[in-house]
This record gives sequence, C-alpha cells and structure tokens, in this order.
Amino acid sequence: MNKIKHFTLLALLSTIVSSCGNTSAVSEKELKLQNGGFETGDLTGWSATGDAFSDVSVQIADSSGKKHRVEGEFYLDSGVLGRFKTGTLKSDTFTLEGNGLIGILLGGVRDKSLCYVSLHETATNEELARVTNNHFNTLVPVRTLYRHTLNASSHIGKEVYLNIVDNDSSDNDGSFILVDDIVLDFKGSNDIGTLIQDARDYTSKYKGEVKNTYRHQYHLMPTIGWMNDPNGLVYHDGLYHLFYQHYPYAGHWDSMHWGHAVSEDLIKWIDAEVALAPDTSTDKLGVFSGGAISGKDGNLHLMYTSVGEGGVQQQGLATSFDGYNFSKRNDNPVIGSGQRAGSRITDFRDPYVYKLGNTYYALIGGKLEGPGGQLILYKSNDLRTWTTVGVTYASTLTGPGMFECPNIINIAGSDIILSSPQAVRHEAKDTYQNIHSVTYQIGEIDYTTGIFTNDYGHDYMQELDKGFDFYATQAISHNNQNIMVAWMNMWSRNYPSAVDGWVGAVTLPRDLSLVDGHLYQAPLKAITNYYTNEVVVSEKTLVNTSESLPFAGKVLTFKANIDVSELGNGRAGFEVFKSPNEATRIYYDASEEMVVFDRRNSGLKLTSADDDGELNVRYAKVSPNSDGIITLELFLDVSSVEVFINDGYYTMSGVVYPSTDSTNITFFSEEGTATLKSLVKHDIEVK
Ligand code: FRU
Repeated sequence: MNKIKHFTLLALLSTIVSSCGNTSAVSEKELKLQNGGFETGDLTGWSATGDAFSDVSVQIADSSGKKHRVEGEFYLDSGVLGRFKTGTLKSDTFTLEGNGLIGILLGGVRDKSLCYVSLHETATNEELARVTNNHFNTLVPVRTLYRHTLNASSHIGKEVYLNIVDNDSSDNDGSFILVDDIVLDFKGSNDIGTLIQDARDYTSKYKGEVKNTYRHQYHLMPTIGWMNDPNGLVYHDGLYHLFYQHYPYAGHWDSMHWGHAVSEDLIKWIDAEVALAPDTSTDKLGVFSGGAISGKDGNLHLMYTSVGEGGVQQQGLATSFDGYNFSKRNDNPVIGSGQRAGSRITDFRDPYVYKLGNTYYALIGGKLEGPGGQLILYKSNDLRTWTTVGVTYASTLTGPGMFECPNIINIAGSDIILSSPQAVRHEAKDTYQNIHSVTYQIGEIDYTTGIFTNDYGHDYMQELDKGFDFYATQAISHNNQNIMVAWMNMWSRNYPSAVDGWVGAVTLPRDLSLVDGHLYQAPLKAITNYYTNEVVVSEKTLVNTSESLPFAGKVLTFKANIDVSELGNGRAGFEVFKSPNEATRIYYDASEEMVVFDRRNSGLKLTSADDDGELNVRYAKVSPNSDGIITLELFLDVSSVEVFINDGYYTMSGVVYPSTDSTNITFFSEEGTATLKSLVKHDIEVK
C-alpha cells in the first residue's frame, strides 16, 4: 500500500517537475468529473439504467479493496447486485478540456466486448472512444484495478458523458466491471507499456501456430518464440515464479523481454504472460537477465539489466503488486554505470538478488577492461539505494569473456558461487567443451568486504554439467531444497526448432547437495508425482550384443544399475530415441572410464553458428562403485536427454531432434560383458 502511494507520489512529483518549465501550466485549472472516484459513497452525479447498478454498487475500499489498488475510500463494482445483472451507468455531462486523456482504474471484465467504459457526445449520443480492462487473466486476481487511458484528444471542446457498461449476463468470475478514480486531463502513465501489451497480444494470437513436433512435455518452454537464460526464480505468495530471457516474435535472440511462468511444484508450469519489455529510455536495447525477490512489503520485485543507448548496461528495478504486472521505477537505474567498479560499461550485468537478515544483496557480473571478468557485491536496505560492498571475485580465466549470470547459494554452511564464465576452453575432452560453461566455486563470502575466499584456491572451479546444452543457472534454497535450473541450450548453435516457431527450454529442476567438495545434482523429488506406467526390467547379462528393452517412448525416465566389472575395455549402455537409422547413445566406455553422450546420429543435425568445435559428443569421467556398478538415470522429453550419473555425481544435458518414429530403447554391450542389474522405468505425464 505504501508502495502504491509512493509511486503515485513520484508520478505526481514528476508531473510537477516537468510542468515547472512551462509557465502557462501554473494557471491551469483542475478539471474534474463529478464524483469520478465515487468518493461520495453513492451514485451522486451518475444515473443508472438496467439492474446492475445502484448505490450499493459503490463499495467501501476496506482491507480487501485497498489491496487491489483502489484509490481513496470508495470504488464501483457492477457485480454486487449479482454478477449476471446488466446495466449502464451514465455520468454527468462535461466539456472535454485539457489534453483529452481520461485516466480510469479498471478491474474485472472477462468479456471485453460486454464490459467497458465509453465516451459519448451529448448532442448525438455517438460513441467517441472506449476503454476496457486489458489485464483480465484468470491467473491474475480479477479484482485488482489497473490504470487505463481513454484517449479522446481528437474531441477536445465537445460536450460529452461517460457510460460504464456491464452487458455480461453470465455468472463467471470477472463478468463484472470495477471502476475507480476517473481523472480528466490525465497526465500519468499507464502501468503496462504498449510493448508488453503487444507481446502479450502477439503471444495469444499466434501461439496456436507453433509446431509441436519437438516440443517438450514436462520442461518449461516459451509459449512462442525464443528463450535463453532463466531469470528471477523465486517463491512468492504460494507459487514459484520463473522468468526468462524472451523474444516472442521469432525463434532467435533479439530485443530482450522477460517471459514469465508460475508453478506450484516447479514441474507443471502455467504461462503467466510477458512481464517486462524494453520500453524505457534506459533499456530500449533490451531487458537482460536478473533476479527476483519477494519484498518485505509483500510485493514482488525484479532486478534486471537495462541495456540502453550505446549498449550501456545498468540495473533497474520493477515492482508488482499482483505478481504478474510490473511497473519499472521512475528513478531507474538503481545501480547505475557509476557503480560498475571497473567493469566495462557495456559488460556489467545479470544481478542475482537475495536477502540475508534484513539486508538485500545483489551479485553482478562484469567484464574487466583488460582480460578477464569479475563479480561485484552490492547491498541495500530497501532495494532502491544500493552501496558497493566490494569485488567478490576477479579472474582472467575467462580470457576475452566475463562471468555471466552469477548465483549464490549456501549449502551446509558453504557459500557456493555458480556462474557462467564465457569462453573457458580446455584441451581435455571431458571438460569445458562448450563455447561457454557453468562452473561452481565453494568457499566463504566476507560480507564486510564482499571478498570470496575459495576453499580450494582462488581460481579453482568445477564444471557443473558435462553435456551440450546447459547455461545461465538460477538457484535458490527453498523448502529444504537447493533448487537449480538452467537454460537447456547453448549460444552459437542453430537449433532446428526455430522454423517451428520456438527455441529454448529450462532444464529439469535439480536439488543440489554438497559432499566432499563436490556438488551432486538430483532430479527434484516433485517429478516423481508425475510418474506412471512403471516397468521393472529383470537382470540380464549381455556379451557383445544389444537387446530392446520392454518399453518404448519419448517422454519417460529410467534408472539403471549396470555392472561393468566384466567389461574389460568395452562399452555398455543405452540407445534411446532409436529407429533403424538413428539413435542417441549414452554409455560407459571402460577404456576411458567415461560416460559418453553421443548425439552424432540423433536425427536432425545441429550446426554451429561460430565454428564451435565438436558439437555432438560429450564425456564425463566417472568410476564404477566398489561393486563395479555404474548408475545411469535418464530423462527423455521428446527432444532432450538429461543424464544423472552415479546418483548425480555428474549430469549431462543435451537436446536432440529425433524422427517421429524413433521411440525404441535398447541396452547394449560392445567388446565386453555387461550386466544390467536393475532398471526401473516410468512414463512422465504432466497435464
Ligand atoms: C547469458 C546472457 C546474459 C545476458 C543475456 C542476454 O546467456 O548473455 O549475460 O543478460 O544472456 O539475453
């Protein structure tokens, strides 16, 4: 509530400041519509026809009303007498003066053609303009009021009146209209910019045209268009919210928006419509990655990197009262380029925001003027004023790149920094084979200096996932789980689903644990709630041969223990997404003591946009346990495979584009003997 006031105050102040230079503004008279905010507590100044409106329609903005952004003490609700009732409420006649813009707070409105506010010429009754609540969404509390503008600037000087119309006779949620604070000569701004509205409209209009061929069934994906990094993973008001870098208009990266989805359990997601668009002067080149935090004020706050003229990167704050519609602060940036602590002005981005005690912290990535990158820590008491704590970590390891998308998570008393250093490349075939990587470092942050002391030496970092498609993590601790997700793609690759109208997904959420200086990843337990059709495969030993497993499919998981003690220098494992001419191979190669993920013959070919080295084979160095067992747990989802090796010691994530009929799964051994000790498979059905 204070925040609402604060925003109104800021808007007012900026109106005053901007009109100060204009001497004629001083003499402007205040234009008012009689009882435009229903502050008389009844329908004075209005006349009703039909049976939807009477004095009892004017509601007191008590605790529930205030929460939904009512102005003053009263507001109008056409549903009080019954949602199914219909009618019209006509205002007094007035002369349209000033700028011709009429600001109106609107809520409810399931059907825009039936509930609206229209402006009419008194002499002819002709309708001149109309406005309705554009924010109706069953996910959003329908009783929240949003500022709208009725634009009648081409009718200045005319005698006019307003009609508040409710012609919706159904009894559904939202089949009513809420109205408040009708302001003539309106000078404020809309809550939701037109670029957001454009993105939302485009999404709902064209989402049906996206082709399903390769779309996942239990991974979060954009409804339409492109996604890269997940942003702002947060638990707020009983739901997980996850945002993501998003370009709705095509299957490639372009001017960055923030997409948004919500979930009760991080597995089943509901699209919550675009949350941020590049619509202010400091972010017109893009709203880049960042974090989210559920504030002390009960609101949801996003901190993002704004990219303005010349590529200048600074950090902005946007706030939402309802969790779905965000207002950027008028005084953004909240961390400007003056606080970039030696980072290049065009490479200072990706705030990760978190709270310890009563203090908010933000960790931000930067590229140094010379080689290498750094992470810088900031703190704040109110999310608006930030002071620099210090450089947490700097290193030349990234060569020409920077540390993108840092996260901090504390596990078992250790501070763990996850980050995405660009361009760390190694010769060894099992490390840093992608153009960019996700790494983690274990140690302790000194919150007085900001300095991170690494338990294993300054530059020691380990690669988090050994596969192809894994970048830009979001990690939070919640509900006794250390939840981590990542973008299940990689830069510099051409993904074949672009022609289908979408690209990008978020990995299966994983629960991190720390054992002896190593991060283990387990699939989040909630996924088991969607397991169906269990198949248990009995023990079998294969010598240089392969055998189809007694199940097939593309949306399933299985966990297998393979005894490789008799394998010699051979190979044993699985072919999935298999048909006579193609297969994706995941197996243990005893001669190298590595698990191999081979997608060279998986289906449609991936190509590199940047001559990115070997694109289609990855290796993870692991040892069998003391009983000679290698454990492989695979998650297949139409066009992706995530492998958890030896109970999450390593993971390998990758996308593949198999043909429709590539649904078979085989177990094989080559040049040796392997025993499948146990295997349990489940289909995964998320509806
Ligand atoms: C990482 C990244 C971020 C940036 C975003 C832009 O993948 O490069 O550093 O904020 O993507 O979309």
